[in-house]
Amino acid sequence: MLVLGIDTSCDETAVSVVKDGKEILSNIIASQIIHSKYGGVIPEAAARAHIQNLLPITEIALKVAKVSLKDIGLIGVTNGPGLIGALLCGLSFAKSLAFSLNIPFCAINHLLGHIYSLVLEYENLPLPMIVLLISGGHTELYLLKENLEYQLLGQTMDDACGEAFDKVAKMLGKPYPGGPYIEKLAKEGKRNINFPIPILKNYNFSFSGLKTAVLYYLKENPNYDERDVAHSFQETVFDYLLLAINKASEEFNIKNIGIVGGVAVNERLKERLYIAAKDKNYQIFIPRKELCLDNGAMIACAAYYQYQKEGGSDFNVEAFAN
Ligand code: KG4
Ligand code: ZN
Repeated sequence: MLVLGIDTSCDETAVSVVKDGKEILSNIIASQIIHSKYGGVIPEAAARAHIQNLLPITEIALKVAKVSLKDIGLIGVTNGPGLIGALLCGLSFAKSLAFSLNIPFCAINHLLGHIYSLVLEYENLPLPMIVLLISGGHTELYLLKENLEYQLLGQTMDDACGEAFDKVAKMLGKPYPGGPYIEKLAKEGKRNINFPIPILKNYNFSFSGLKTAVLYYLKENPNYDERDVAHSFQETVFDYLLLAINKASEEFNIKNIGIVGGVAVNERLKERLYIAAKDKNYQIFIPRKELCLDNGAMIACAAYYQYQKEGGSDFNVEAFAN
């Protein structure tokens, strides 16, 4: 079955064609660079750009996959969480397309989509698995069970992990999204600033204290070296993430560790995970970069499985922000 996957949850218009929940025929992403100069996503601008992008990006996705609309058997579309205006663009588009083609569609939770990027990447994903989702909007720790059912173990109580990267980058005068800038600066820096590792409460994360610590450091040390700030901040975040992973691995006696979401593309994080893996016998699973960042393929894959389990969604299904 060919599934068209659509994600417009934030600032990327993403459309993909995936065959049978595993073979990616196309995975097209239009990034909206308009937000970079504002230091964050402007919701109304994002929605307007989605409206302009959806049709041409879908046409490209079909063309690259060498299929036409009449070959599509199912549409998967993100209906939340995300920016409500942005979500509504993708959802209304998917509903009208499904209605006019007389095919089913599945409304997909964006977070479930990120989890399915692992299913898409690895043919025989070993389960159960501890899955950490770290993106610009979310920081969540899941227990992914044998039947692909998932249990939320904990989540952030304030900023998301990627958001903390974006905010620290902004303090250093870098454009949005700041994660890649922090990673690049950190490569040349040293860990010579003692930022406090935040407290983990029952797998619930908090990044706002660390962010504030960076802010105060910059104020108190006007001659700071941005490379050392980036390096020290990044290592502290990764200490914190590893703390949660180690705790969950021990508690549930699970050695399979999956990392998904935009921050998972960070090479230093991968290095830290592989070091921990040697020490603790972990098996680490991280999808390739284009499946870690927001994309339509993970939504198509999640829709394929959701459709087998519970059929298509109702046309009155709504978008939800949180
Ligand atoms: O999953 P994603 O594409 O979108 C959301 O669902 O949010 O994640 C985007 C986030 C941004 O906060 C961005 O700064 C962060 O991922 N990110 C990184 C890196 N590349 C992207 N964070 C740290 N290091 C990176 N190399
Ligand atoms: Zn995402």
